[in-house]
Amino acid sequence: MEIELGHSKDLEQSVPSEKKTLNSADIRRAYPSQDIGKGRGVFVSTYGCQMNVNDSERMYALLEMANFTPVTTPEQASLIIINSCSVREKPVHKVYSEVGTFRKLREKNPDLKIGVGGCVGSQEKDNLVKKQPMIDFVFGTDNIDKLPEIIAKMYQTEEPTIVTQFEHRAPYYVETLIRNPGVATFVNVTKGCDNFCTFCVVPYTRGREKSRPYDHVIKDIHELTQRGVKEVTLLGQNVNSYESEGGQDFADLLKGIAVETSVERIRYTTSHPKDFDEKLMRVMAEHQNKICEYIHLPVQSGSSRILEKMNRGYTREEYINKINQIKKIIPNVVLSTDIIVGFPGETEEDFQETVSLVQEVGYETIFAFKYSPRPFTKAARFEDQVAEDVKERRLSDLFTAHNILSFDLAKGYEGRVLKVLVEDFSAERGNLHGRSTQNKNVYFPGTPDMVGQTVSVRITKAFPSTLRGEWIQE
Ligand code: SAH
Ligand code: SF4
Ligand code: F3S
Repeated sequence: MEIELGHSKDLEQSVPSEKKTLNSADIRRAYPSQDIGKGRGVFVSTYGCQMNVNDSERMYALLEMANFTPVTTPEQASLIIINSCSVREKPVHKVYSEVGTFRKLREKNPDLKIGVGGCVGSQEKDNLVKKQPMIDFVFGTDNIDKLPEIIAKMYQTEEPTIVTQFEHRAPYYVETLIRNPGVATFVNVTKGCDNFCTFCVVPYTRGREKSRPYDHVIKDIHELTQRGVKEVTLLGQNVNSYESEGGQDFADLLKGIAVETSVERIRYTTSHPKDFDEKLMRVMAEHQNKICEYIHLPVQSGSSRILEKMNRGYTREEYINKINQIKKIIPNVVLSTDIIVGFPGETEEDFQETVSLVQEVGYETIFAFKYSPRPFTKAARFEDQVAEDVKERRLSDLFTAHNILSFDLAKGYEGRVLKVLVEDFSAERGNLHGRSTQNKNVYFPGTPDMVGQTVSVRITKAFPSTLRGEWIQE
């Protein structure tokens, strides 16, 4: 049964109404730590996209404030949360099978509680506890800030606690909560999606699209830089349809971050081809000292007929024209994409158009998937579903074609000097690891004190997905 949370200890009540951002002090005030965590270990098992990774970090940060202790294995935990993803293949099944693996842990520790959050939580709601009674609570993607309250309720009652309603009317006011941001971190700028591509479950699991206020994003990034962050990746399902209350668009936001904050590098993901305009290209080109020349622009298919059935809002020709314009305005741009093979009705000719588009654009990286019917979506009801073995063969053919291309592109890095932001040091190998502005993973010998610096590295050897090099002092 879905519950309404009580109001006596309700979080909103502890946040003064004139104040817009929910911050850590509000959360501490609402949940005196000794009430809930009592030092219990909490483990979050994370699936899915970067949004979920960031949400899991938020859960840890919130629960730490409520006196839980974040731990790194389920065996150490008295509270386990599965932060689930439902974008592809058998997500609900994955949740049940993971919960099943915790049976032994519960036998040893009767205090162990298990919760399911994320996109499967939003999608399945109380069905989850009906089918798997080991689950003690379920919450949705829009209820994360209420987690301490949901968990407090769960400890108080014998009933499973289910909170999955979307806060449709609430504005998107949150403070970024990251315990140890390191050198490079993520900042949410939009959430939800209103595009309703016919294959995609996200609009149903993440709700309506909302943007954070411009000032909140700038303030967050300013604070992160004071904590040592050098690179931020702006996150959202469609960051480039960002629109602030003051009417700033995504290009304005990028420019504002480049000019008003001291962050050294800016990235973003994901952008939608239909919203990628010339203004954004020009801002990227003008601020190339800060905005990385790497763009992930999911195409999904190279066939205009299939793109139409997917409701993507562009044709093959429009996409390619946009790519050519990007290449002209942003020299050295590096591109990656997402592709679905075997969408209902996809013929061999349609698929070959996808292969030829991949070659024409010259993506360094592709993320390709077999089409998987999702609940609530239109395409799941299309009659001309493609057979599994055909999908498999097309996926494998696509990767084979792309491997040849990506190996050639990778070889082109040998001998080049790249600017690398050093993110970590492996004592074992005496190696530093960082990413170039093109988002290439680069490994080279060095010392731990170089973490956080941007250095020049000459590439000595290219592998399909990583580069090896040597530091050159300039
Ligand atoms: N908002 C992003 C994509 C988010 S989902 C965009 O519009 O590009 C991430 C990727 O998962 C998608 O780009 C798509 O390639 C893949 N995907 C989504 N639904 C899928 C489905 N039903 N079957 C297979 N792949 C899917
Ligand atoms: Fe899904 Fe399309 Fe929205 Fe991307 S734009 S999240 S693929 S509905
Ligand atoms: Fe998965 Fe939800 Fe992200 S469905 S890909 S976790 S938005």
